[in-house]
Amino acid sequence: MKSLFDSIKINSMISKNRFVRSATWENMTETGYMNEKLLSIYEELAKGEIGLILTGYANIVKEEQPNAGMFGIYDDSFIEGYKELCDKVHKYDSRIVLQMAYGGTKTTYNVGERIIFAPSNIPEKGTGTQGKEMTKDEIKYIVNAFAQGARRAKESGFDGVEIHGAHTYLINQFLSPYYNKREDEYGGSLDNRMRFLIEIYEEMRKVVGKDYPILLKLTSTDFFQGGLTFSETREICKKMEEIGIDAIELSGNLHGKGESLIGESFDEYKIQNEGYFSEFAKVVSKEIKIPVITVGGIKTFEATEDLLNNSNIEMFAISRPLLTEPDLIKRWKNGDKKKVKCIRCSKCRNKDGNYCILIKR
Ligand SMILES: Cc1cc2nc3c(=O)[nH]c(=O)nc-3n(C[C@H](O)[C@H](O)[C@H](O)COP(=O)(O)O)c2cc1C
Repeated sequence: MKSLFDSIKINSMISKNRFVRSATWENMTETGYMNEKLLSIYEELAKGEIGLILTGYANIVKEEQPNAGMFGIYDDSFIEGYKELCDKVHKYDSRIVLQMAYGGTKTTYNVGERIIFAPSNIPEKGTGTQGKEMTKDEIKYIVNAFAQGARRAKESGFDGVEIHGAHTYLINQFLSPYYNKREDEYGGSLDNRMRFLIEIYEEMRKVVGKDYPILLKLTSTDFFQGGLTFSETREICKKMEEIGIDAIELSGNLHGKGESLIGESFDEYKIQNEGYFSEFAKVVSKEIKIPVITVGGIKTFEATEDLLNNSNIEMFAISRPLLTEPDLIKRWKNGDKKKVKCIRCSKCRNKDGNYCILIKR
């Protein structure tokens, strides 16, 4: 029987257990730079025995930012602050990976004051925000920005990087036939829609070398008619494994609506009560050999352990419950296996920072 406290390897990185803090934007830095508040949040998570911590997303170019208060990684001046962060987390034998994102039109933040790139002129379904269809030079600019972000992450001491390819952000939009209507080599067939992601990955790999962990967060399906389908996501996962990605985190794009969709089927798989997208991750985990991470709706130790032992899913990522209890994993490890205290109200996104309203200190 496999244990949630087994150590696990992602390329050259070893996580002491199978628990991941999934990327959770804190909205606690006005400048994008590290500060004492953020350092203490990450120290608390590391003390709480999480094997692998994914940071909140970091923007890769200065002029683009899908939300206020996120980390920055667009300049070498960020490196010093992140060194302190990585040292702090490593002291507790946890691993820390920087998530990097180009947001795009899934935003209502400072719209009109900046250029927002998109694959095509299709407004984002939820926000209605319209982007600028990217030229090939702009594509190159973003590909290079991801690669430079990865270089800075490595120089800072992060144990790896994660590419945010989910949640209708720019990479997800390139993959999606709904958002990507391009007629050049970046649009049309799935191979073409994948090209942007592949170029980002390959450029990053060139810069960080073959041993440095590069993870990818993808959406299981777009969850709407005309969007990216799960069968396409399965192909993307196979392709990304083939070219060298080190782990895939499979998410969704339900933004707080997970609970209300439990039991509903999308592309023939149901949203689960425990581990919303785990049915999708189960399928993919049988088709690829690199670690598959499921994220979303993890509530009890027992159900997570069952999932581990009845699938090839290797890791389990948690976001909101760790806002309520940063020491959740330590609690479970010490034998108190009661379910998470988070009630998934999704009221954790706040103007003055993202915190659990049940425990605001
Ligand atoms: C406050 C907040 C911030 C988030 N920030 C990010 C982020 O920066 N990057 C990302 O990929 N997902 C982000 N997410 C999504 C989570 O990583 C996760 O996929 C989602 O909350 C489902 O997991 P859970 O049920 O354990 O909360 C965020 C979620 C919340 C609640």
